[in-house]
Amino acid sequence: MSSKDIYREIILDYYRNPRNYGILEHADIFRHDSNPLCGDEIEIYINIVDNKVSDVKFLGKGCAISQASASILTELIMGKDFDFVKKLTKESILENLGLPDLGPARIKCALLSFKVLKYGVYSYLSDTIKDTESAEKIRDEALGLF
Ligand code: FES
Repeated sequence: MSSKDIYREIILDYYRNPRNYGILEHADIFRHDSNPLCGDEIEIYINIVDNKVSDVKFLGKGCAISQASASILTELIMGKDFDFVKKLTKESILENLGLPDLGPARIKCALLSFKVLKYGVYSYLSDTIKDTESAEKIRDEALGLF
């Protein structure tokens, strides 16, 4: 089996058996967004305790890559420091997904959940933490994704 096939199998497994699928009532961070090109949707719910991600869930509908990458993203940030979440980059997300040779349209699929996460972090920083400077930086990063 080639490495491309292995990645495809991993994505299909996350798509069919999504980890951390569901909602969190009264989440500290909640955000919903969609890919304007296709309408696929992701919602992310995060609880923060002692500056760490204590729980994270997602809901969504759409293509295998967008839904699998959302599930993989929740696993990546579960239990991590909020600073780690704030500093995540597009490059680190794509590297973590391990999907080689994604074209521009598929990169948007892979980054949809990351965009939702960024906007969620932006809202949390601006509304709850009142850290306007960091919030604006995160918002600008989200705007630059696609
Ligand atoms: Fe819509 Fe993938 S086709 S996000």
